[in-house]
Amino acid sequence: MIPLVITLSLASRSYPIYVGQHLLTKHNILLPYLSSKQIMIVTQENIASLYLPILKAALADYPCDVMYLPNGEQYKNIEQWQGILEKLIEQRHERNTTLIALGGGIVGDMTGFAAACYLRGVNFIQIPTTLIAQVDAAIGGKTAINHASGKNMIGAFYQPRCVIADIDFLQTLSAREYRAGLAEVVKYGLIQDADFFQWLEANMALLLSKDESALLYAVHKSASIKANFVSQDEKEQGLRSLLNLGHTFGHALEVANHYEGILHGEAVAVGIIMASFLSMQLGWISSSDHQRIQALFDKIGCMKNLPALPLPSDFIRFMQHDKKVEAGKVHFILLKGIGQAIKTSVVTDQQLKQTIEWAADLMVNV
Ligand code: GLY
Repeated sequence: MIPLVITLSLASRSYPIYVGQHLLTKHNILLPYLSSKQIMIVTQENIASLYLPILKAALADYPCDVMYLPNGEQYKNIEQWQGILEKLIEQRHERNTTLIALGGGIVGDMTGFAAACYLRGVNFIQIPTTLIAQVDAAIGGKTAINHASGKNMIGAFYQPRCVIADIDFLQTLSAREYRAGLAEVVKYGLIQDADFFQWLEANMALLLSKDESALLYAVHKSASIKANFVSQDEKEQGLRSLLNLGHTFGHALEVANHYEGILHGEAVAVGIIMASFLSMQLGWISSSDHQRIQALFDKIGCMKNLPALPLPSDFIRFMQHDKKVEAGKVHFILLKGIGQAIKTSVVTDQQLKQTIEWAADLMVNV
């Protein structure tokens, strides 16, 4: 099968997103995006044991340095990021080097931020191996590391030369990581495409079984929606912020748990359900739409065994540290219907408290 290609349009910085199978083996698509023979692959041990040999075979004539990052969002920090830079300096990487991120969102975000800063910016390629990275994190040039006070607090917009999303990599992804990634897929239906949401309702069982054609459709559709948003608003001046549905709540949850015990996609799933409940409270979506959203997340099953929610006062404090605070006001992405998102700050403390209390009860009973 020929890879599907989506173009993320940013004038001279436009780049392709390849979606397909056997992309590094049958289709030799990587080589045109290298800028010299110097390469550093950044990955993690568990991913390397599965996919590094395939990548190295695709780069047979290229001597590659490999840098390993530890697993876990709690390591997406300044020390690990500095470790990438130290290795680049130690191995005398030059301006025309290429950094290849082979892994999930943590690897991609940290590699991208290292590429943005090393020698004021070097070539960078994303090879996402998780669902969440294939549909979201690897696309659009948001690169960052976390700070104890907030997620992705330190970073840069820095676009890759290409994104290679091979759905074969998803076959080895753990059930937990896979289900967490589906939360971001659902997000695209909710913010932009009611037909896609309906397709997800009808095809979730197939997707959960990692059916190849369902996966190809879902990854391609999600990546296309993401690329379209970023092409119109790279630096998140307006439209792109709609991609943050569920993230104001979700990031607060991740920070409250010190980035442990809850995956990003799981936090986003809880955040989306909360945004849906809040939208219903405001009279913007019907209770039947809210129930459809909740039912889809129940089917995905990505909200089980998560840490308890913080108390409303703590939850609100964590939200106030988020990047989405503007002029001291917390902004939310809420729904005006399935397929229609809106950015707002017209939420009272009482509505927020009710939403947090509702979600705390929900989490105990899922
Ligand atoms: N993950 C949201 C964005 O890339 O804008």
